[in-house]
Amino acid sequence: MQAKKIEPERLERQQGIAQAVFEQIQDKNKTYYIETYGCQMNVRDSETIAGLLQGMGYSPSATKEKADVILFNTCCVRDHAEKRLLANIGALKERKEEDPELIIGICGCMMQQADVSRKVMRRFPFVNFVFGTNVLWRLPELMLGALDGERLILTEEEGFAVCEGLPAHRSNPFSAFVNITFGCDNFCSYCIVPYVRGRERSRELSEVVAEVSSLADRGITEITLLGQNVNSYGKGMGVDFADLLHDVNAVDGIRRIRYMSSHPKDLSPRLMAAIAQNDKVCHHMHLPVQSGSTAILERMNRRYTREGYLQLVEDLRRTVPDIELTTDVIVGFPGETDRDFEDTLSLMDEVGYAAAFTFKYSPRKGTRAAEMEDQIPEAIKKERLKALNELQAKKTAENNQKYLGHRGEVLVEGFDRRQETILFGKLDTFKMVYFPGDEGLLGTYQTVQVTECARNSLLGRME
Ligand code: SAH
Ligand code: SF4
Ligand code: F3S
Repeated sequence: MQAKKIEPERLERQQGIAQAVFEQIQDKNKTYYIETYGCQMNVRDSETIAGLLQGMGYSPSATKEKADVILFNTCCVRDHAEKRLLANIGALKERKEEDPELIIGICGCMMQQADVSRKVMRRFPFVNFVFGTNVLWRLPELMLGALDGERLILTEEEGFAVCEGLPAHRSNPFSAFVNITFGCDNFCSYCIVPYVRGRERSRELSEVVAEVSSLADRGITEITLLGQNVNSYGKGMGVDFADLLHDVNAVDGIRRIRYMSSHPKDLSPRLMAAIAQNDKVCHHMHLPVQSGSTAILERMNRRYTREGYLQLVEDLRRTVPDIELTTDVIVGFPGETDRDFEDTLSLMDEVGYAAAFTFKYSPRKGTRAAEMEDQIPEAIKKERLKALNELQAKKTAENNQKYLGHRGEVLVEGFDRRQETILFGKLDTFKMVYFPGDEGLLGTYQTVQVTECARNSLLGRME
């Protein structure tokens, strides 16, 4: 579905409010800090929040401790994320007592659940406001309210319209995330995302291309197109993801196009061909499999079988021979037998992913799987996760071996955390390579030769 847009008059009104905030705080050196949980969607949203706050006169703070505004952008995809968040909010109680002017706001997926946002407001009376995933553009209103001493909850926004043209403060000067779809219609039975991010809607192709062009004008050379399921981009609009890749590929200045995530059920031969034909599209695909057992996949509502998935992988590798695959896997889904789990192990062994994100199934309130019988005990989930991770560690090491002696181009992204003389960058296939070099190379493309394979990474030298 094409995204409905927020009406310009409503946006203008917010801009007026942002100006009022600016006038209240100017010359006071106010700063903000955003703590982001969850996936790339949230990372991208935090960039918009940062852009809006800067428009109101706030500047970024290097630490949470010194900031005048603290925002938590939350995730609720698994239980673990929720617990960590609640502890981190609780820890701010004393600071707020010392500094009543401190503004604390909570947003993101977890807050889109009305019962949770009400609970958070009750449990933490020092929180100024909470807001959901689709109302970022109304942040000025929330900030002005907070300066006036109000406490606000803002989660509903009918129809989940999309707001174009918001400012963004992007932290990476060479590589940028670009939203192409919002929300999700797939309703995998374990997943909360469709409930907290709303129905799937696509941005207009021309809007995406215009954003990519303006990023290129600012020196960005690598973009990552974002959607819960990029493969279904443009549904009902007469365009598809292959068209989008083609048009973005034509943007001058862009050298690399990445995208995530891809849903196997919508991975068409046409799309595979587009990946092969458009030279800037990177040879890496994140193609979550979730389980290797057809029975479990069916109960997950994934709409493909084990055999269908393996066939896709075969077709994809025939069309794009050097493509690297990464995946997501859930262990301990309700009713998962030892046999089902072995099917997952054997699939992982057969495909040979470059990397895998592995999770213990976490029941989410309101989803179908949470109501299913035969929930798996924690001890078994733990055991299976361990076995899966051991297998994947072996496969990752095997996969790394094939890069020994390989020459390829990397985009130099930063320094190794431990060694200031070691740079890192990614190959087209998303493989990370570490190599000696200096600061002047940041943001450039360099050809490196891989000389050594460590457990999780490749070491090399520049040519
Ligand atoms: N739209 C993306 C995934 C978003 S969530 C996609 O479909 O690929 C990222 C990953 O979290 C999922 O791929 C899944 O492996 C995992 N996940 C989602 N819900 C979960 C749950 N209830 N318990 C455990 N893992 C979950
Ligand atoms: Fe969740 Fe499935 Fe949608 Fe991914 S495709 S966000 S796993 S419902
Ligand atoms: Fe979490 Fe929301 Fe992403 S629930 S995984 S931050 S879409």
